[in-house]
Amino acid sequence: MKAFVLERHGKKSALRSAEMPIPELRDDEVLVEVHAAGVNLLDAKIRDGEFKLLLPYRLPLILGHDVAGVVVKVGPRVRQFKPGDEVYARTDDLRIGTFAEFVPVKEASLALKPQGLTMEEAASIPLVGLTAWQALVEKAGLKKGQKVFIQAGSGGVGSFAIQLARHLGAVVATTTSAANTALVKGLGADIVIDYKTQDVEGVLRDQDVVLNSQDGKTLEKSLRVLKTGGKLISISGPPDPEFGRDIAAPGFVKLVMRLLSAGVRRRAKARGIGYAFLFMKADGNQLTQITRLIDAGAIRPVIDKIFPFASTNEALAHVESGRAKGKVVIKVK
Ligand SMILES: NC(=O)c1ccc[n+]([C@@H]2O[C@H](COP(=O)([O-])OP(=O)(O)OC[C@H]3O[C@@H](n4cnc5c(N)ncnc54)[C@H](OP(=O)(O)O)[C@@H]3O)[C@@H](O)[C@H]2O)c1
Repeated sequence: MKAFVLERHGKKSALRSAEMPIPELRDDEVLVEVHAAGVNLLDAKIRDGEFKLLLPYRLPLILGHDVAGVVVKVGPRVRQFKPGDEVYARTDDLRIGTFAEFVPVKEASLALKPQGLTMEEAASIPLVGLTAWQALVEKAGLKKGQKVFIQAGSGGVGSFAIQLARHLGAVVATTTSAANTALVKGLGADIVIDYKTQDVEGVLRDQDVVLNSQDGKTLEKSLRVLKTGGKLISISGPPDPEFGRDIAAPGFVKLVMRLLSAGVRRRAKARGIGYAFLFMKADGNQLTQITRLIDAGAIRPVIDKIFPFASTNEALAHVESGRAKGKVVIKVK
C-alpha cells in the first residue's frame, strides 16, 4: 500500500512517500480502507521527536492519528463491525498510521461515521472531538449555566469544544484574532476576546472551567480568571503526576512530571482551583456519543483545507503554521 513514512526525527524531516506492507491485523482489530485522514499537531510533534519519552515509536513509522474509511476485514474477536461499514476513529497510541491506504484499528477505538458527513468531514473529528469531550465532560464535568473559557476557539480543538460546551448549556468565552470573530460566534461563543489587542484578565472573571491550550503565560492568566472551586484543564502541559500514573510512566518520568507541574499545582491549590493535565486517548464509546451529537445537528465539522494524499507534507506544514481555522484533512481515496 502507499503510505507517508517518517524515517528520521527532525523539524525538517519530510515524510517519504513509500510502498509499505499492510500491517498485520490483530484479533481485536478491524482493517480500515482509509478514505480520509485528519492532520493534527501531534503528528508534527512526533515527527520532530518531541514525544520520544512518552511515545517510544520505532522508525520507519507511518504517521497519522485520525481516519475515516470503510471496513474491509475484521479480526476473529471483533463483534460490532463488519466489512462495508463506514467508520471513523482516532487510532491508538503506538498503533497509529492513517497517512496510508489501509490502517488496522482496535474495535474498542472505532465508531460508525456520522451519516450526514463526508469522509473528509468525518476524518476531521476524532482527535479534537475526543479531546474536547475528555476535557469538558470527563475531567471538568461541565454543567448547564457554568462559565467556560476555551482558548483558541478558531483552532481544531477550540472549534469543536465551543460547540460541545454550548450544547452542554455553558456560557462560552473564547480567544482568537479579529478575523475569526464571526467564525467562533457562529459556533456558539458568547464572549469573544481578540488575543492580539485585549487582555483576558480585563474581560473574564469567575470562570468555572478553563480549557488551556496555549503557553505558560496564558496558563497563569487562566488561574486568575477562575473562581474558587474552578477547574483548569490543560492540554498543552505541564503534565501532572496523575497523568504519569495513568500511563504507568517509569519512575524518573513521573518525577519529571511532578517537578514540571509543581508550580502551577501549588498556585492552583492556593486559590482553591483544581489543575489537571489531559493527554487524550482513543475511545470508541465516546466517539459514538459524538456521532449522535453530530447526527442530531448539535455539532458540525469545521474544515480549513483538504489536501490531496500526494501533498501530505504540505498538509502537515499548514497545520504547523498555527493559523488553521478548524481542521486540515488529507483525501486519500
Ligand atoms: N493534550 C492533548 O490531548 C491535546 C490534544 C489536541 C491538541 N493538543 C494541543 O493543543 C494545542 C491546540 O491544538 P489545535 O489542534 O486546536 O491547534 P490549531 O488548530 O493548530 O490552532 C490554530 C488556531 O489557534 C489560534 N491561535 C493561535 N495562537 C493563539 C493565541 N495565542 N490565542 C488564541 N488563539 C490562538 C489561531 O487563530 P489566529 O489565526 O486567529 O491566531 C488558529 O485558528 C496544540 O498545542 C496541540 O498540540 C493537545
